[in-house]
Amino acid sequence: MSPFLLTRTLPEDATEAALRADVLHGLSHTPKTLPPKWFYDARGSELFDKITELPEYYPTRAEREILAARAPEIARATGARTLVELGSGSSEKTRHLLDALPGLHTYVPVDVSESALTQAGHALIAERPELGVHALIADFTGGLALPGTPGPRLVAFLGGTIGNLLPAERAAFLTSVRALLSPGDALLLGTDLVKDESVLVAAYDDAAGVTAEFDKNVLTVVNRELGADFDPEAFTHVALWDAEHEWIEMRLRSRTEQTVKIPALDLAVDFAAGEDLRTEISAKFREDGVRREVATAGFDLTHWWTDREGRFALSLSVVR
Ligand code: SAH
Ligand code: AVI
Repeated sequence: MSPFLLTRTLPEDATEAALRADVLHGLSHTPKTLPPKWFYDARGSELFDKITELPEYYPTRAEREILAARAPEIARATGARTLVELGSGSSEKTRHLLDALPGLHTYVPVDVSESALTQAGHALIAERPELGVHALIADFTGGLALPGTPGPRLVAFLGGTIGNLLPAERAAFLTSVRALLSPGDALLLGTDLVKDESVLVAAYDDAAGVTAEFDKNVLTVVNRELGADFDPEAFTHVALWDAEHEWIEMRLRSRTEQTVKIPALDLAVDFAAGEDLRTEISAKFREDGVRREVATAGFDLTHWWTDREGRFALSLSVVR
């Protein structure tokens, strides 16, 4: 059986230090915010996988349809020998790429969720004994270093996760990805597209309440890691379409006036009744915008594919 390597590129305590800094910054400014990467402990990753199966949450199905149809074309265009996947989660859709890339040497899934990486990695090597899997527990927004595996490299960033970064963060992120690559390498990017508000809001506020539970999971993470006393029931999950920025905002709205204590930060955070804590943005895109953003980072967009209903796009860009 081929090796499964799991490398933590961050020191053990870096995660806690980063969470402390993000919570301190995000909860002591107005409006209150928390970065979405803290959703994904083992429970958060499990809840995200449930979201992908909800009737209202179309992005996963739409992107899977495109991957299934276009994987051979992607393989021919890139000839990738190393496939790096950022925010790989369950690596479920990635199997279409793994099947289509004949000369693939190593798959490098990158995620902050150790549980997701371990589960996906073990399943993959059991299915594909010939494939090398080198998983990285790492934050894709900061100082990523890739293993010295053979090129050409294809970096896949699927699911529309790029939309969870603010515009300035996206620009810095794309520039940092470009810096990891060489001529002949490529970027495969999944982007959810602008569409009718009612479809978008339903996708982020499903009838079964799974997205609400996912949203509130960030409070459970802060309680466990920093000893805070958030009562998830004291907040309501809200999904709003911001037409100006063309993004969905997920927020947790305080049901009452309340004070939350965070002992590890020596902090007490006051919430007014009805005050919102923004937990995620999920930007929706148009072709022109994606082309412009990748171009600014030093890529040329060569292919743009959508699902049959035009809800989601996968684009391939090459290093300029
Ligand atoms: N690519 C998968 C999963 C998307 S969910 C799909 O398309 O279905 C987003 C994934 O990104 C989660 O697995 C989460 O743990 C990971 N993630 C979120 N922020 C991250 C960050 N800053 N660095 C690394 N991984 C991150
Ligand atoms: C991971 N990311 C692309 C998801 C999204 O659609 O923005 C996270 C998510 N949030 C609520 N539902 C799913």
